[in-house]
Amino acid sequence: MGDENIRLFGISGSPRKASTDYIVQEALRHAGEMYSAQIEYFSAMGKKINFCIHCDYCIKNKNGCVHKDDMQFVYEKLIWADAIIIGTPVYQGLLSAQTKAIMDRCRAIAAQDMYFIRNKPGAALAVGGDRIGGQEPSIQAILNFYIINEAIPVGGGSFGANLGGALWSKDRGAEGAKDDEEGLKSMRKTVDRLMKTTILLKKKN
Ligand SMILES: Cc1cc2nc3c(=O)[nH]c(=O)nc-3n(C[C@H](O)[C@H](O)[C@H](O)COP(=O)(O)O)c2cc1C
Repeated sequence: MGDENIRLFGISGSPRKASTDYIVQEALRHAGEMYSAQIEYFSAMGKKINFCIHCDYCIKNKNGCVHKDDMQFVYEKLIWADAIIIGTPVYQGLLSAQTKAIMDRCRAIAAQDMYFIRNKPGAALAVGGDRIGGQEPSIQAILNFYIINEAIPVGGGSFGANLGGALWSKDRGAEGAKDDEEGLKSMRKTVDRLMKTTILLKKKN
């Protein structure tokens, strides 16, 4: 299952090289190995990602964002991609500020092209320190981003994944995520569904 040449872009919205970085990279590795996907990756760690300040520069000028920062790479890769994975750590029961800022800043590409991710399948992964710490609301916030921007939100299916990849790091970074067999299963099931949906759509177009 590799002839379709799927371009997959993964984002980690964690400021650290820890569990979210590990999980998103594992998801990309799985897609590369099982589906020969071409992979691009962006980690929020060490990156300059300004908040959207609602200045409406992007709406008035249709020339990108007023901030010239590391979001440029994200814009390019979202346009390049056939499919998207966004992973976030859970902060206060929801997604990280970095993940939210990345999604907010996409208003600037939407202002240029409302259909920048239209019909592209997108999946969500969330890693919490607690077993039930807000992974589902975090995943849902990412799925809402896909819905709002006319992408196709994809979960992992029942009996193992449901809304997406939900992981429990026990606050032990990548080592904790590696030990979460059930969480890893939910991630792989979600990636499988993402890739199969993307292949189906490519065949139809
Ligand atoms: C500001 C902050 C808030 C957090 N809030 C939660 C929370 O509400 N629920 C939870 O399960 N874990 C929470 N955690 C723990 C992280 O989600 C957990 O350690 C996660 O694995 C961090 O991702 P990382 O390893 O990629 O940094 C919080 C951590 C931080 C720094």
